[in-house]
Order: sequence, then C-alpha cells, then structure tokens
Amino acid sequence: MLVKLTSVSKRYLIGNAWVDALKNITLSMDKGELVALTGPSGSGKSTLLNIISALDQSDSGSVLVRGVNIGTLSEHKRSVLRRRQIGIVFQSFNLMPVLTALENVIYPLVLSGVRDARSQGVQALRDVGLEKLGSLRPAQMSGGQMQRVAIARAIVAQPDIVLADEPTANLDSRTSENIMRLVENLNRDQGITFVISTHDAYITNLASRVITLCDGELVNDSAVAAVTSARQTLKRVGAQETQT
Ligand SMILES: Nc1ncnc2c1ncn2[C@@H]1O[C@H](COP(=O)(O)OP(=O)(O)OP(=O)(O)O)[C@@H](O)[C@H]1O
Ligand SMILES: [Mg+2]
Repeated sequence: MLVKLTSVSKRYLIGNAWVDALKNITLSMDKGELVALTGPSGSGKSTLLNIISALDQSDSGSVLVRGVNIGTLSEHKRSVLRRRQIGIVFQSFNLMPVLTALENVIYPLVLSGVRDARSQGVQALRDVGLEKLGSLRPAQMSGGQMQRVAIARAIVAQPDIVLADEPTANLDSRTSENIMRLVENLNRDQGITFVISTHDAYITNLASRVITLCDGELVNDSAVAAVTSARQTLKRVGAQETQT
C-alpha cells in the first residue's frame, strides 16, 4: 500500500467558527493508480492533498506513506520526503521566475545534494517533451509549457506519487488535454501514481479511480463502489446456488 489514511480529520478556525475541512477520511491508494479527486469548491480536496504531501498536518487520524507515519515526522524529515518521494504540482505552476526551466526542475535535487542533478533534470525535461526549452525562464513560456516544467520538477526525483491540485485549471481545454495525455503516459510508462484534484470531467473520465468529497466527507470512491458491487454480485450468485 502506497498511501493509507485512517480516520483523518482537519478543522480550521475561520473567525470564531470551526470549519470541518476533512471529516474522518479513511482510504488507501496503491502504486500505479491514476486517481481523480472531485467535489464542490470548499469540499476539502486541497486540504487532503496538502496532508498527503506533508505540506499540512491532520488534527487526528494517521497518514502512512509507504508505511511511514508522516504526521509524526519532524519538519525537516517532512521536507526531505517532499523532495524525494512525493512530487507536487500546483494550479499556478509555482516556478521560480529568476531560474531557467532546467534550474527549476533540478532545484529539489540540488537542495538534496544530488551530484548528477543536471543530467537527471535534462532527462525529466525530455520526459515532458521540453528538452529544447531548458534555458528559457518561466516568463518566456506558455502556460502549458510552464506546467510541463512543473511536472518535470515533480518527477525528477523519481517519486512513487505525484499530487496535483487542479493542474489544468489555468489552461485552455486543448492544453489541458495535452497535459493529461502526458500524465497518462507517465502513469503508464513509469508507474507513477497520480492523485489529481479537479473540476474537469475530462480528467475524471480518464482516471482509473474517482474519489468524491463533499463538505469534508468522502461521499464516493469508485474503487470501493466496484468492490461493493462485485460482493453484491457474488452474494446474489451465492444465493442462487443455495436455492438450486
Ligand atoms: N488555511 C486555511 N485556513 C482556514 N480555512 C481553510 C484553510 N484551508 C482551507 N480552509 C477551509 O477548509 C474547507 C476546505 O477547503 P479546501 O481548500 O480544501 O477545498 P477545495 O475542495 O480544495 O475547494 P476548491 O475546489 O475551491 O479548491 C473550506 O471551508 C475552506 O474555507
Ligand atoms: Mg482546492
């Protein structure tokens, strides 16, 4: 099991009222899944992604990433985890404007002291189809190109999982489809697990699994729904067998 959440809850104090951003979320994700995380605005998608990526901490419950309880790690260990095992992609790309595309991609490796960061960065840029644009700065690139650079940065350390918070929200529909084709290829060819929060039906259609939140609660999980339906079918078949 790559990621395992058990009874995860998170509240925020807004003014003098508590808001339940996540209520008692229990779910697991396996290697190789392409998960779409859906739900209305304010349903808790970003909160969930931030907790899995160790950017934020839950109030209660446990979050295991490859068996390690990330809630109990020090801030330093959590930042190491983010640099090495978890890739993160944001809606607004979050590239550093003064750095070139290649420098943005290798930044997490350089922070980790990786020696052949440059060649790994060149490979990651090749993986996202931008091998020729490594020397450009973000301001010289299109939105789709910037998001490819952000994806290259997310995969450069060869993480098991990439978490993406509405990665196509700032892109036009054709560019979004190209980005999602890239995500599908990386998922299939490199076995990287993707968890993508989205309001985009195109993404939920191509995902291998759709998890839906509403008011901080997990209201639907297509993987669980499939198991339940298989169990019900077996029960029905079993019931018929006992009748005959
Ligand atoms: N840092 C924060 N401080 C206070 N409240 C927060 C914070 N982050 C999220 N919330 C609240 O938690 C709830 C869930 O927010 P979250 O951002 O996770 O929703 P979302 O599903 O990502 O929404 P959207 O689709 O608009 O991005 C909301 O009620 C929000 O106001
Ligand atoms: Mg959000």
